[in-house]
Amino acid sequence: MIKIKDQIYWVGVKDWEIKRFHGEEYSTHRGSTYNSYLVRDQKIALVDTVWTPFHEGFVEELEREVGLKNISLVVVNHTEQDHAGSLAYLMERIPDVPIYCTKNGAMMIKKHFHRDWNFNVVKTGDSVELGESRLVFVEMTMLHWPDSMATYVAGANVLLSNDAFGQHYVSPHLFNDQVDQGELYQEAVKYYANILTPFSRLVKAKLKEILDLNLSIEMIAPSHGIIWRDNPLQIVQKYDQWAGDFNEGTVAVIYDTMWGATRKMALAIARGLENKGVGAKLLNVGKSDKNDIITEVFKARGVIVGSSTINKGILNSTAALLEMIKGLQFKNKLGASFGSYGWSGESVKIIQESLKESGIEVVQEGIKMQYDPEPKDLKACEAFGEAFAGRL
Ligand code: FEO
Repeated sequence: MIKIKDQIYWVGVKDWEIKRFHGEEYSTHRGSTYNSYLVRDQKIALVDTVWTPFHEGFVEELEREVGLKNISLVVVNHTEQDHAGSLAYLMERIPDVPIYCTKNGAMMIKKHFHRDWNFNVVKTGDSVELGESRLVFVEMTMLHWPDSMATYVAGANVLLSNDAFGQHYVSPHLFNDQVDQGELYQEAVKYYANILTPFSRLVKAKLKEILDLNLSIEMIAPSHGIIWRDNPLQIVQKYDQWAGDFNEGTVAVIYDTMWGATRKMALAIARGLENKGVGAKLLNVGKSDKNDIITEVFKARGVIVGSSTINKGILNSTAALLEMIKGLQFKNKLGASFGSYGWSGESVKIIQESLKESGIEVVQEGIKMQYDPEPKDLKACEAFGEAFAGRL
């Protein structure tokens, strides 16, 4: 248990081992944390729990530190298992303690745990007094689940924001001023790109709503990673920027290749982009982490995707990435496709159609080459890259 401010304590878990999150969907190169908080006033509130595999140690620690019978209420900001996974084990020991959550939260807890506990359904602006401090609830619907909510601790002026503003990042430290800023922001933008991109319009509106509440925010404590205590609004400003069709002006040239021909095309296209002063990032999707590639797509203004043709289709690595791109609904991106083939040559068209379905504006016809490209073919790829640069 670590005091973070006034009556607020971190009682979370640091998970140094986790390398894949959301099943296998999200790579966590730097581990993660499941941040749970105690507000210890005349009443004691527990805000969120930790992921299911850690439930026993978590509950034992609460018993040792404060005594479970002294917990007056439990706040469930979000019912996903990484935060609510220890709830059943905890509530078996304190079954009558009220649970504060949104209406969707109560429904989802029942669907997950098949139990009917003492639910206190709250909406934005509702509050509960703990003594000197007061919890104020702010619904965060679809950021990123229908049940999501943040809890503001008035008095301490701390926003317990749950997933929003989090990062999958474990460190010996707890606060943003103690860690490497490059690592911190790499994990924060990866988190936004891979989880929050589809909800960017809602993020914009919600940030405005929070700022319009005129809360004094001295600390933002999310449910993953580092707590923002030094200039905490810096991450709110970053979210505002990221939610606004953000890009850094680069082009992600993403490809996979069977015998190297599509790779040669990718290099030539990148050369063409660079001829025109555009920064190209070459990303072999067969060899790279897909969540890292998605982060580069998020930062890019243009996305050029290539694959060899196989069995009248595309390589499975590329297909998986295109499916991720489709789901994330990026805005304000330009795209194109390329690829080599032997005899049928469907890949370029398939990629092009997928980009269009993803809301990416395809600005030029794709380019395909049969078997291994000759120097003149690579010149054509270079010109393809130059033409794309001209559309940015
Ligand atoms: Fe949506 Fe960290 O769970």
